[in-house]
Amino acid sequence: MTSTYSLPQSRVPDPRDAPTLRWAILGPGWIATRFVESLHRNTSQQVVAVGSRTAARAEQFALAHGIERAHGTYDAVFTDDAVDIVYVATPHTEHRAHALAAIAAGKHVLVEKPLAVDAAGAAEIADAAGAAGVFAGEAMWTRFLPKFDVIEQVLSSGVLGPIHTVLADHGEFFTRDHRIYDPTLAGGPLLDLGTYVASFAYSVLGRPDTVYATRRPATEDIDGQISAVLSGPDGHAVLNTTILTDTPTTATVCGRDGTLTIPGPFFMPGSFAVTMRGGGTVEYDEQPGLQVDGLHYAAVDAARTIDAGRRESSIHPLSDAVATLDIIDRIRASISA
Ligand SMILES: NC(=O)c1ccc[n+]([C@@H]2O[C@H](COP(=O)([O-])OP(=O)(O)OC[C@H]3O[C@@H](n4cnc5c(N)ncnc54)[C@H](OP(=O)(O)O)[C@@H]3O)[C@@H](O)[C@H]2O)c1
Repeated sequence: MTSTYSLPQSRVPDPRDAPTLRWAILGPGWIATRFVESLHRNTSQQVVAVGSRTAARAEQFALAHGIERAHGTYDAVFTDDAVDIVYVATPHTEHRAHALAAIAAGKHVLVEKPLAVDAAGAAEIADAAGAAGVFAGEAMWTRFLPKFDVIEQVLSSGVLGPIHTVLADHGEFFTRDHRIYDPTLAGGPLLDLGTYVASFAYSVLGRPDTVYATRRPATEDIDGQISAVLSGPDGHAVLNTTILTDTPTTATVCGRDGTLTIPGPFFMPGSFAVTMRGGGTVEYDEQPGLQVDGLHYAAVDAARTIDAGRRESSIHPLSDAVATLDIIDRIRASISA
């Protein structure tokens, strides 16, 4: 049955219209490759420099992506006058130190998710950026997608009625040679895939009063699977994340009057549906996409924010990144209690 309810339009502007920043890439690995491809394919942003711990890797990445300046140390990126903003794409354990070093050198920073390994580290980055008067942001790219702008409007319109339940899952099978199995790089699902479900739950229900979590190990040192229940004044979020299996990776928001269902992978570009309790479904119709179809939205939001003289995204402020990491801290605390 078709619903009489109609979805709002996305308010996300054309990414090509954003003011141009000169970007440097720090840590030319898996996500950095996709970030640069996403910028080149969808925006007028300039990637002017790349920094690696080794000169040969920097040169290789620069050559592959048509980047002018290749630096064999990260410090050389921080002192490069041709750079406006540093995209930190190193492993989670390095985000805090690399973001603080870039900020200390007067650069704006966009840091891959998670902003840090815990809420205290994330708050330190926020404080340092505030004191230095530079932009800092977490590249929680999902939050910047046009699809999530429509979802945000649906949720804030109140059409679903009081929201009582959020269900979100993110599971992906990884082989043992991936960095997600490395305990020295804060491996396990929680900081990688779990940030998506925790961030989504926070964006819908806010800060939970209580957090209960349980785990199954993958190895002696690494979590394999974590399931958590977050209980707040308005409702519960039931979350699951795993590196042991591929899971549906769907998200659902259930209100008294309607349900919003995001098919997997919920955190990427794609469709979703709103089904009203009284009958009828309305669908947001979008081609499914991968990181290269969406990472650039966080980057152009940074460009627009900086150009407007502001130092924090209004779509995904630093307080949201800190609050998400607070949930993650409390999941860890519940597991080890
Ligand atoms: N937004 C998304 O969809 C998405 C997807 C995947 C990952 N991520 C995030 O992006 C970050 C990087 O993940 P990735 O999968 O791209 O990792 P990756 O392929 O291992 O790349 C990380 C890069 O960081 C550098 N690095 C600096 N210190 C390092 C250390 N101690 N150990 C290993 N490498 C180090 C390395 O480059 P050099 O040695 O050349 O400097 C390496 O290539 C993670 O925080 C992850 O959560 C986001």
